[in-house]
Amino acid sequence: MIVYFNGNYLPLDDVKISPYDRGFQFADGVYETLRTYNGKLFRFDSHLKRLKYSLNELNINFEQFNEIEKISYELAEINNLHKKEFSTYIQITRGVQFPRKHNFENHLSPSVFVSVSELIDNRQQVEKGVKVILEKDIRWLRCDIKSISILPSVLAKTKAVSFNAYETVFYRDNFITEGSHTNFFAVRNDIIYTAPVSNFILEGVTREVVIELCFLNNLKVVEDYIKVDELKTFNEFFITGTTTEVTPVIQLNDRIVGDGIPGKVTKLIQNIFYEYVKSV
Ligand SMILES: Cc1ncc(COP(=O)(O)O)c(C=O)c1O
Repeated sequence: MIVYFNGNYLPLDDVKISPYDRGFQFADGVYETLRTYNGKLFRFDSHLKRLKYSLNELNINFEQFNEIEKISYELAEINNLHKKEFSTYIQITRGVQFPRKHNFENHLSPSVFVSVSELIDNRQQVEKGVKVILEKDIRWLRCDIKSISILPSVLAKTKAVSFNAYETVFYRDNFITEGSHTNFFAVRNDIIYTAPVSNFILEGVTREVVIELCFLNNLKVVEDYIKVDELKTFNEFFITGTTTEVTPVIQLNDRIVGDGIPGKVTKLIQNIFYEYVKSV
């Protein structure tokens, strides 16, 4: 597998990263995961905008934004994935700083890593629906930044998997925020609810697309918090994400949602989403 690291295309095993890279020492960096539909990186501009935002919020000086798209396609070609659907992982850390100290210097040269991999078709699972579990949101208060410092999400996802669930959905006080790597939606009386954009959630690109598509199809979306003590009043749930797409939730903790099959509104949105991505 050939990857990109700091200006070079090289075999994965040849990448050398300093132990003094602040990404390694402090998780001081950001990332993005993109995917293709029809061989084209989906919503590249939205991902780029979010990447710029995250870097800016952390004062990481990275400028070569124009190169990222090119690097992704070149890597796909080199790795013989250009005729398949692939995902791209981009990680930018603040760079190397020696000796180790918490406060960062302003003129470090960021470390840039890009890799591509073949997308595994998970539509069967996605169409059938998944189980999720609920957990207290113990993440920091800047979940709007796509930082690589995501240990609470790593632990939460691992817990989900150990419970045979696909995802952990977080709540803060009485409010659902989002999943460990997805955004969360609930449906009541044909109205779709999802948490508003704030520092408590990552503004998902798929979330944005789903809201757009709902608007175009006269489905009402309300960006307001879903209360934990009102979960019983909602009859459908679904989660969204770059590889998760629109995935129905058919079990939430011990509760079987609906009849244990994807709800009508969720199915409709999933189909609208599939049709849309076919056309991009
Ligand atoms: C915490 C969190 N929320 C939501 C999402 C979904 O975002 P997107 O639709 O851009 O993949 C992600 C994606 O990784 C995430 O990490």
